[in-house]
Amino acid sequence: MTRTRPLLVVLVTALALLLLSCGGDDDEAAREIDGDAAVGEQAVTPVRTDRTGGMGTAFDDTSRAFSLTVRNINHLELQAFADGREVFEVVWEPTLSGEFAGLGPNFNAAACATCHTDDGRSAGPGGPGPLPVGMAVGLGSDDPATIDHFGGVLSTQAAAGGDPESITVVRYEEVPGEFDDGTPYTLRRPIYVVELGDGSTLPEDSVIRVRVAPQLPGMGLLELITDDDLVALADPEDEDGDGISGRLSSATDLLTNTSLIGRFGWNAGQPTVEQQTATALFDDMGLTSRYFPSPLCDRWAPCLRAGVPLSTEYNVAEYGDPNFGVQEPAGGEVTDLQLLHLTVYTQTLAVPGARDLGDPVVERGSELFTQAGCASCHTGGFVTRDGPIQGLSGQTIQPYTDLLLHDLGIELADQTAGGDPVPTEWRTPPLWGIGLIDTVNGHTMLLHDGRARDYSEAILWHGGEAEASADAYRAMSADDRSAVIAFLESL
Ligand code: HEC
Ligand code: HEC
Repeated sequence: MTRTRPLLVVLVTALALLLLSCGGDDDEAAREIDGDAAVGEQAVTPVRTDRTGGMGTAFDDTSRAFSLTVRNINHLELQAFADGREVFEVVWEPTLSGEFAGLGPNFNAAACATCHTDDGRSAGPGGPGPLPVGMAVGLGSDDPATIDHFGGVLSTQAAAGGDPESITVVRYEEVPGEFDDGTPYTLRRPIYVVELGDGSTLPEDSVIRVRVAPQLPGMGLLELITDDDLVALADPEDEDGDGISGRLSSATDLLTNTSLIGRFGWNAGQPTVEQQTATALFDDMGLTSRYFPSPLCDRWAPCLRAGVPLSTEYNVAEYGDPNFGVQEPAGGEVTDLQLLHLTVYTQTLAVPGARDLGDPVVERGSELFTQAGCASCHTGGFVTRDGPIQGLSGQTIQPYTDLLLHDLGIELADQTAGGDPVPTEWRTPPLWGIGLIDTVNGHTMLLHDGRARDYSEAILWHGGEAEASADAYRAMSADDRSAVIAFLESL
């Protein structure tokens, strides 16, 4: 991928307008790179387009909106996608042998699709009570015994009639507030109690990380945003003084033991789609693979891992070769080929195109989104680098995320089992496709723990680095607030 030379801002603006009118097909031309960008400055310019995933966009606003594949992949990759969908949807069995065997002994769900239904977002709790299936409770603790016992994620189900490790119950406190025009609103603040299966309690200082499953379109494109672009956006010390810092997440590639930029998960804890997938298989489903070869490994007690990431070992372009994958090194319950299929599947889920471009209310919302500073974090304009899947490379994308970690205030922070808040930094979630969660999954519960019941509540919870943005939203007229929501719904 060669980068285009700096373009004049005027030219970019003209191009943006042109793209608006012709549907945004010209990926290369829309790029502006400012090689002298100061710390925290956008090296690239976001562009308003319906083709938010470049050629990796698909236009479908039905309940299948998150499930289409990017169109510009070859027939072999398409075959891998189809095989991957089977592994994504299959219900794994707690048996010892068989193609989809080895579930458990403890797990949260027996299929990826149970949590990421229709490749979408799992619902948050409808009200007080046990957390719904589709949410996961991660565990952070300094106590090795606790981690040894539970691993990284508390599980709610056990194979063969065993006792589940835990049940997490939520109740809500009402948090009243008011827009500047006097209109009242009420948010709900979650409080969690973890009940352990053996009747014991977690140490008071164990951190519990309650998470919903995010929608999966566009993962392969996010993976190919260049490190340089992310480094240029980061401003850990807020040197430009705009109140927004933004830190790169550092994550370890478990196979090569190298440090990479974290991109996936609510805290950008995972560096690649492949490792995110292997971690889900292990933590949520109790399935071993080349990343977690023994049930005794976990993130805090690493085992000796075998091999290198599959993307370096197998060229997906040779997928149709009859010898492909024949010399699979021993992996685990999930074979290397199954893991590869799952990875290609997740990487090539297309981004749903934005809708209602040119609608005056939506365009007004888009302007207000920028004016309120939302686009400082929810940004775009990246051109993806080369990767194993050619069709994902060289795409100009508008994911509405900087993939950086931000402090959004103590109200959104994780809690300890004892109920104390723990400072937490969140990765800006991509907003592309967010307007279709309701269509695909039948709800609008947002944020990492699904506490927000709609878009407006999600914005109102923003604090910390995003406090000024949330204040700007609170200060808007009812019409302007609706325009911002209409814009989010159009993504
Ligand atoms: C028990 C429910 C559950 C199951 C089963 C599950 N996931 Fe997830 N998934 C989650 C949650 C929760 C997160 C957010 C994790 C975090 O923030 O650490 C997530 C995150 C992800 C992400 C990163 C999304 C992003 O925006 O960064 C990918 C990719 C993913 N899952 C793929 C899979 C695949 C593939 C499978 C099957 C192997 C799977 N998941 C199984 C709940 C689940
Ligand atoms: C400082 C960076 C920052 C700014 C500024 C910001 N956001 Fe966010 N936004 C985030 C982060 C981080 C999250 C995830 C927080 C969480 O899940 O607890 C988020 C979450 C969201 C969500 C929910 C996404 C999801 O997948 O559940 C929406 C909607 C949203 N932001 C819209 C906005 C709007 C509109 C504005 C401007 C009024 C804005 N944001 C300003 C960083 C930011």
